[in-house]
Amino acid sequence: EMSEEERAFQERIDRGDKIEPNDWMPDGYRKTLIRQIGQHAHSEIVGQLPEGNWITRAPTLERKAILLAKVQDEAGHGLYLYCAAETLGVSRDELIELLHAGKMKYSSIFNYPTLNWADIGAIGWLVDGAAIMNQVPLQRTSFGPYARAMVRICKEESFHQRQGFDIMMKMARGTQDLRRMAQDALDRYWYPSLMMFGPSDKESVHSAQSMAWKIKINTNDELRQKFVDQTAPQADYLGLKIPDEKLRWNEEKGGYDFSEPDWNEFFEVLKGNGPCNRERLGARIRAWDDGAWVREGLMAHAEKQAIRPAA
Ligand code: 3HC
Repeated sequence: EMSEEERAFQERIDRGDKIEPNDWMPDGYRKTLIRQIGQHAHSEIVGQLPEGNWITRAPTLERKAILLAKVQDEAGHGLYLYCAAETLGVSRDELIELLHAGKMKYSSIFNYPTLNWADIGAIGWLVDGAAIMNQVPLQRTSFGPYARAMVRICKEESFHQRQGFDIMMKMARGTQDLRRMAQDALDRYWYPSLMMFGPSDKESVHSAQSMAWKIKINTNDELRQKFVDQTAPQADYLGLKIPDEKLRWNEEKGGYDFSEPDWNEFFEVLKGNGPCNRERLGARIRAWDDGAWVREGLMAHAEKQAIRPAA
């Protein structure tokens, strides 16, 4: 049974109001946003690790500069999102502590290794492609700071996807070896990219409530379908084959039929048993500990500044 306040709040959501940090909101709405925005921010920061590994190994200076710019953008996306989460009364330190304690998640996709340069192309094309599919609708989410962060992030994501697709084009049109590398990267990144949209709708625990609050605008399966419909023709254009024998256009559905990812693998990765979970969390914890002296120095400096008598 809804309280008077909850009913008034739902009416605001239903008429498309933007909810701002100082507005009244149900505890569950605040909690869901802290969970989703916090994990979204963690994904951006952890997502720098797989690509960062290839900045020093990029094949040309131009590719190095492009990848550097993309990884730097991801850091910025993480900061916008941590700021959006802070407006809900949680500190960045708390969110990072929960991540390091394994109590908050980041996107499963970043628990897969980047074995060679073609993976950087596949990540830009598929992972950033999937992220765009998921983030564009979030520009219309009901919480103001999150929606506004998404507008800014989506502008930069299209460059991320474009540069990845460009790498795949170059390799798919290259020598036999390059084409084989591009196909191998597609084989390894296809299903993990489908997992980025979350479990199937019937398995999704949060979707119903998140959609009622317009925190989630489309269901997981809807966005996954849109991603396949957009990406399948791109693979054809590249002359690469999506590793799914079931994939075929279904006229009356107006979309592709395709095989779902291995959900056991998905839930194993979420439990921490993916190929790189320990390595990724270890790298984040090490970076946090190694950076403590910088944070402490800055805080000490700020305190001194604060008590210095005005000149
Ligand atoms: N990886 C890790 N956890 C996942 C996941 C994934 N791919 N998909 C779902 N989950 C988790 C959910 O977080 C939830 O666990 P929790 O209760 O501990 O948070 C559980 O699985 C059940 O899933 P639900 O579908 O019920 O959960 P949601 O309603 O939260 O939907 C979501 C999942 C679609 C990922 C949604 O949270 C969302 O849209 N988040 C914002 C977008 C986001 O985080 N994108 C990350 C992509 S990577 C990125 O942005 C970087 C880019 O620049 C490359």
